[in-house]
Amino acid sequence: MNDTLLRGRLLTFHHAPEDASDTDAYTYIEDAAVVVRDGLIVASGSFDEIAPQARNAELVDHRPNLLMAGFIDTHLHFPQAQVVASWGSQLLDWLNGYVFPEETRFQDAAHASAIATRFFDVLTQHGTTTAVAYCSVHTQSVDAYFTEAAQRNMRMIGGKVMMDRNAPDALCDTAETSYHDSKALIDKWHGKGRAGYAISPRFAITSTPAQMEMAGALVAENPGCHVQTHVSENLDEIAFAKSLYPDAKDYLHIYETYGLLNDRMLLGHAIHLSDREVATLAETGAHPVFCPTSNLFLGSGLFDDARLRAAGVRNAIATDIGAGTSYSMLQTLNEGYKILQLQDQKLHALRAFDWITRGNADVLGLADKIGTLEAGSEADIVVLDACATPAMSLRMERAETLEEELFVLQIMGDDRAIAQTYVAGVPQK
Ligand code: GUN
Ligand code: ZN
Repeated sequence: MNDTLLRGRLLTFHHAPEDASDTDAYTYIEDAAVVVRDGLIVASGSFDEIAPQARNAELVDHRPNLLMAGFIDTHLHFPQAQVVASWGSQLLDWLNGYVFPEETRFQDAAHASAIATRFFDVLTQHGTTTAVAYCSVHTQSVDAYFTEAAQRNMRMIGGKVMMDRNAPDALCDTAETSYHDSKALIDKWHGKGRAGYAISPRFAITSTPAQMEMAGALVAENPGCHVQTHVSENLDEIAFAKSLYPDAKDYLHIYETYGLLNDRMLLGHAIHLSDREVATLAETGAHPVFCPTSNLFLGSGLFDDARLRAAGVRNAIATDIGAGTSYSMLQTLNEGYKILQLQDQKLHALRAFDWITRGNADVLGLADKIGTLEAGSEADIVVLDACATPAMSLRMERAETLEEELFVLQIMGDDRAIAQTYVAGVPQK
């Protein structure tokens, strides 16, 4: 395949910037080139330096738009695409009333595969090139998810939810079948092409102690896999979880007891935490996942980013479709900004864009592969247009700095601001 040379403004991060004065944290180049070969970035830098080395490359000129690493969504639910915007309830009623009935539809392989196609279309339309998803309890849903990812050569992580109680019969596996099905799916998909498997006990409420033991066994036997679950999202949920595990010191201790906590563990929400739980997250390296639009939509509470970071915990950020209300990581940052405002914390635009690219990649242990535009990275790239709508364009007339432009994208941006998405070097539009 011929090389492609993308020209545009370039922003890529090296570490999380605290504020704009932390200029070592990122590289910004006004006129840049990124050379893509066989799905990888083989060179990036100033256009004048790079272009002469790539004379035979096909040139795609994205100026004046901004090239950035593709966005990474670290928590969402593939079978919930058609329950986004379901009215009126908080977590447990919302799960029982909308989500569980919807997820039963994914026992039908044809349905799962039809939704997968559209789900992946929507992800890339929103600039998301890697995501970590919960599939349904049915192995067919996982096959549909990874089959679609493979066709698009996308770096995707996902897994079958393990759930053996407090859900409709049609959604319940057993401790044994959840172990064997997850193991078979890991053998089939983990490490195949760009796929990664996440061992996915849904949450303590829908798993018996016997199933938690099986989840722990899977984690011990498959150290390369991610692990994902939910914790301390909602006060009624916390009380119910503790009532089911009366010996646990607190909610997080349930997962700790079964050996689930490690630095490949993603814990959705993690809002209402004791000091002991925060200390345990820091000790184990497990990662809370901030899901701003979801937490507001379900009235779950305010994620305390500063408290966790001060304890040395590394947080991820995500949409949590379908409790989340937008697939856009830009809109996720917008609502995240407001949640932190309510707690007198600040989400600076530079840190925000680092978070949804390199930061989330780092949490996933994938910073050597995705999340930056450095040579050697996989060529997952978004092209951002801060003037995508009339309102953005009007606002941008008064923007003078990169940070102002980024903040306009963070607050006003959505899928309309995604001028192009490249997955392993291939344009998606
Ligand atoms: N807790 C357990 N399952 C879910 C889910 O599907 N969505 C959310 N937001 N929380 C959960
Ligand atoms: Zn979730």
